[in-house]
Amino acid sequence: MIWYPYTPQKGYKEPILIKRATREFLYDENDIEYIDAVSSWWISIHGHNHPEIIKSVKQEIEKLDQVLLAGFTNTKALELAEKLIEFSENNFHTVFYSDNGSCAVEIAIKIAYQSFYNKNIKKNIIIKFSESYHGDTIGAMSVGGNSKFNLPFKDFFFPSKEFLSPDCYNCPVGKKKERCKEECLEKLENYVINNHSEIFAIIMEPLIQGANGMKIYKKDVLKKIDSLCKKFDIIFILDEVFTGFGRTGSKFAFMEADVKPDIIALAKGLSGGVLPIAATLINKKIYDNFFSERIEDTFFHGHTMTGNPSACSAALASIEVFEKENRIEDIKILEFYLKKYIKQLYEKYPNLILSPRVLGAVCAFELSDSFNPGEFKNHLLEKKIIIRPLGNTIYIAPPYIISNDSLIKIFHSIDIVLNDFTLL
Ligand SMILES: Cc1ncc(COP(=O)(O)O)c(C=O)c1O
Repeated sequence: MIWYPYTPQKGYKEPILIKRATREFLYDENDIEYIDAVSSWWISIHGHNHPEIIKSVKQEIEKLDQVLLAGFTNTKALELAEKLIEFSENNFHTVFYSDNGSCAVEIAIKIAYQSFYNKNIKKNIIIKFSESYHGDTIGAMSVGGNSKFNLPFKDFFFPSKEFLSPDCYNCPVGKKKERCKEECLEKLENYVINNHSEIFAIIMEPLIQGANGMKIYKKDVLKKIDSLCKKFDIIFILDEVFTGFGRTGSKFAFMEADVKPDIIALAKGLSGGVLPIAATLINKKIYDNFFSERIEDTFFHGHTMTGNPSACSAALASIEVFEKENRIEDIKILEFYLKKYIKQLYEKYPNLILSPRVLGAVCAFELSDSFNPGEFKNHLLEKKIIIRPLGNTIYIAPPYIISNDSLIKIFHSIDIVLNDFTLL
């Protein structure tokens, strides 16, 4: 039997068996069509089964299944590394491959830590944020906020220093976004000023904290943290696992905020959701700390399937499709409609929908306490719309190519569910 992730083992409902997929649609064994409003955990950015990505994987796998990436390399891994550097507008120098977002984050943390170690500088503190999520491995959990997901392991985490997450729709220090001067960062700034010699990195999700409730914050927060890092020789790590490849409206959120992180972690949209692949991108300054003949300066890290040719070819094709089909334009149009439709819903149900917000291809709101999010999800599933609430946060993060008809169907279905509730 399968041990399904995030699933209580007693009394769970049998999962739906999906047999095929195309664009924003999934089809079950009876060929019933579902709209995947969450891009299958935020990955299918071009929709499912994009023909060009599938074609490129087929071509590659017939030539070369796998080769170890130490002492050997492969063309697709080389091409992808070059493409990633170009796509990130030469902000980075080196690409370290892995196969999921949690690992890309672990690698970022390890490289940041060892980067000082190799210079014979001892820095042991990493700064994290209370509502952040960086994955499910021990290292990634250690730099995430506390939640029911990681509660059993709390005492087992490596040490970090936590600060309140920025959140412009529910400000942790009670300010209004329009008039704030990033007061939410005051404690962090003071701490950094007094302890910078011990801090090796700050890690955060840029512009939107995804898994802990789609919490959106302004670019100025990132700018302030970026300049603190630059001033005090702290490595700035941005986890772009969710935000990368267009989700916030730009190729990467760091570009939208006009900041220069030292390291970014990428996964999810990297292969357009076709094969597992992740990458950690590192700038030259950090890389240079490993450019050494001393064996102890080596980064001794690697995963068996690192740089898999098929996965790299999927990622290459996905980035080419992103550029050729002008996804940034699609996201702009999608953002426009998400704003329009959520505004209409909010005007109709101001007491049921709280803090409606849109950024790029993400639309989120909190459901009033009177509504059970699990039931909300089930009602939508009956209407063949797939969502996954995060606590009482409801969000839509569809493939960027979703049709307007499907978007209308999603919002219309939400409308019906909310309306039925008001009639109870
Ligand atoms: C921001 C962020 N970082 C890391 C991860 C972990 O990625 P993975 O599930 O591929 O390990 C996630 C997954 O949702 C994420 O949203």
